[in-house]
Amino acid sequence: MNVKKDVFEEKLKILHELGNELSLTKSVKDLCRSAVELGRKRLGFDRLSTWFVDAGNPKYIIGSFGVNEKGNVREETAERVTIDGDPAMKQIHAKQAHSLMREGVPLRDNSGNIVGHGSHIIAAIWNGKEIVGYLSTDNLLRHKPFTEQDREITELFASTFGHLYSLKIAEEALQVAYGQLKDIQGQLIQAAKMEVVGGLATGVAHEVKNPLAIILQGLEYLSKKIKTGDEDILLTLQRMRGAVKKAKGVVNGLLDFSTFSELNLTPQNLNSVMESSLFLIKHQIDKRGIRITKDFADRLPPVMADKNKVEQVFINVLLNALDQLSEDDKLIIRTYAKDSLDEDRKSVIVEVEDTGPGIPTDILSKLFDPFVTTRRASGGTGLGLSIVRNIMNMHNGKIDIGNVKEGHGAKVTLEFIAQGQT
Ligand SMILES: Nc1ncnc2c1ncn2[C@@H]1O[C@H](COP(=O)(O)OP(=O)(O)O)[C@@H](O)[C@H]1O
Ligand SMILES: [Mg+2]
Repeated sequence: MNVKKDVFEEKLKILHELGNELSLTKSVKDLCRSAVELGRKRLGFDRLSTWFVDAGNPKYIIGSFGVNEKGNVREETAERVTIDGDPAMKQIHAKQAHSLMREGVPLRDNSGNIVGHGSHIIAAIWNGKEIVGYLSTDNLLRHKPFTEQDREITELFASTFGHLYSLKIAEEALQVAYGQLKDIQGQLIQAAKMEVVGGLATGVAHEVKNPLAIILQGLEYLSKKIKTGDEDILLTLQRMRGAVKKAKGVVNGLLDFSTFSELNLTPQNLNSVMESSLFLIKHQIDKRGIRITKDFADRLPPVMADKNKVEQVFINVLLNALDQLSEDDKLIIRTYAKDSLDEDRKSVIVEVEDTGPGIPTDILSKLFDPFVTTRRASGGTGLGLSIVRNIMNMHNGKIDIGNVKEGHGAKVTLEFIAQGQT
């Protein structure tokens, strides 16, 4: 009698340790696998498996991990059976009981085939409120008869496991929510940053715009009026004009960047908008001798868009690519419609892909910040893509930029919402 009591106390101690060990598992899956493995190794369970009530249809249970007829732990997440298929489980479910032990019953494999006879215990996996699953164990492998204490230990193990299981589920949900929150926080910080930069930039741009215009007019006037053969003077004037024009470009860019709310929306076919954008920069394309492949969808649903602004987007993206390409490079433009992933509507996608050097990885993450450029020396302002993104946001669209392969071939994907979709 005393020996039995000692064994029971020893098992309770192990159960306590197991609880601590299992609470350190990294995921729900890890917990389920470890519970079966450690249950066998440390508590001396024979065949052991856990099943969870299918949240979508509580008449069914779904497998998790279990021990096969040879004694090996295996994943059983593909198994889904009715509770009614197992009389013991059915009874526990009906009575909301903690456990049930039966002797001399047929023991089955996962397909329901009888693989032997022996003792069988089913214990409810409780989460503190309700039954979330079942723990099933039998003595198929070692044929050692079950005792009442085995039933109690199984019941306690199932209950410990159940509490840890709901804890892990909650932990995982919390992790997901935390990740989403961090993403949103990042976006908010970015939006706030853009608002401050945008506000400052517009203020400065407005102040600088008129003086620049006056300087430029003055330079034009002086260039015409000064009759001199002094090359240096002419060259200086020319340089000054160039510099002022560049400054004007930046100022205009900044003003573009902040003209937010004024959209003139009409139904547009993005194939035609792309054609007119290409036409507007035909000169630059021809000059560089770049081959353009157009892979346009025949029938694109219309998009509510501001034609000029979307042209500005396309031209910015096209010029960015052209800028990086050499003569034998290619530029591929694709348009197509697809079902939007996150919502129940259609999107129109415009892709501009090139075979150039790709975007340097160190600027990929800040590409949409204003003034990020690798072309400062050749007149880049780094405003292009921030304007592009602003315009896409104004259209409730999305933009994604990446490299086809690391180190070469940039690909810009623009996503617009098709008209007539909610
Ligand atoms: N197709 C592309 N291939 C390689 N790099 C690109 C491509 N498009 C954009 N970039 C990189 O992104 C930077 C920022 O572009 P953008 O915001 O338009 O400013 P800018 O054109 O004035 O440099 C560019 O300087 C370039 O380094
Ligand atoms: Mg640009």
